[in-house]
Amino acid sequence: MITVPLAPYSDDAGNRIEYEGPTSDSVQITFRGSNNVARIDARAHASKLTVDFNSSNGTFVLGTNTSKLSFSAVARVGENAAVTIGNGVSSTGWVTISAVEGVSVTIGDDVMFASGNQVRADDGHPIFDVRSGKRVNHSRWIRIGAHVWLAFGVIVLGGAEIGEGSVIGAGGVVTRRVPNNVVAVGSPARVVRRDVAWERPHLGLVEPFYKPDSSTVKKSPYWRTTVDPDARPPRRSGVARLRRRVGRVWRRARAAVVRGRGRGRSVVPVEQAQEV
Ligand SMILES: CC(C)(COP(=O)(O)OP(=O)(O)OC[C@H]1O[C@@H](n2cnc3c(N)ncnc32)[C@H](O)[C@@H]1OP(=O)(O)O)[C@@H](O)C(=O)NCCC(=O)NCCS
Repeated sequence: MITVPLAPYSDDAGNRIEYEGPTSDSVQITFRGSNNVARIDARAHASKLTVDFNSSNGTFVLGTNTSKLSFSAVARVGENAAVTIGNGVSSTGWVTISAVEGVSVTIGDDVMFASGNQVRADDGHPIFDVRSGKRVNHSRWIRIGAHVWLAFGVIVLGGAEIGEGSVIGAGGVVTRRVPNNVVAVGSPARVVRRDVAWERPHLGLVEPFYKPDSSTVKKSPYWRTTVDPDARPPRRSGVARLRRRVGRVWRRARAAVVRGRGRGRSVVPVEQAQEV
């Protein structure tokens, strides 16, 4: 076993790091077997990243990024497995990623992880049926589409596929397919809104400090309606619908009052903004 910092590297076992940027100690790569490849873009940036190739023939790919977006992760790449992370991916805290037993985890461009996120294509330990002796918890691939937002504490498990532009609510556990441009919540995550788009500018730190409609943000290319006709939010009873409508009117009225009071107060410059 050998652990090396991010720099061009190759050894007699066929392990290599394909990278043309400056040496970085904040990225540490461990090779245990043979013929593993880490392909890291010269403009990749990670505040902290460890990649552990557990055995042989693993692949880890990381795309470009900017130092303005923080990204930190712990990735496990097992036998014949692959972890691919696209361009412009960010995280507020550590993301734990695991792929072993020949499966892949693919994370699209511009994905935004919050804190406490895990992406696990395998369960770490086997579970068997006691009668047949067969394995029941097979490792399965994961695909997270471009511009997906995983809120605080979200866990994505093997077999999950999340469509472009979707949001998974805090604490959600994604186990199956989630379509594009939806909000899905809960465990297992289910669609509660469709035909939505989200944007990166922070609500508290980036002006304008009230963003009541889309004129307040620059639109990304992910403004699409949800393609899956079966992705329907649960039907609400008449009373629940009325309660939500009253709540919405009340929140808007309150925001208008607060906005009126807040005019003219000093603001934090955008450059000092730290995303949370
Ligand atoms: C995903 C999220 C943004 C959705 O917000 P929203 O679209 O305003 O959702 P609503 O509050 O209208 O909720 C819609 C329904 O989903 C439920 N719901 C919302 N968030 C939920 C969650 N995290 N888990 C379970 N249910 C949730 C609501 O109770 C509501 O159900 P109901 O219709 O039966 O009453 C929000 O739920 C969330 O997770 N916020 C945290 C974001 C975060 O972690 N930020 C950290 C910085 S990246």
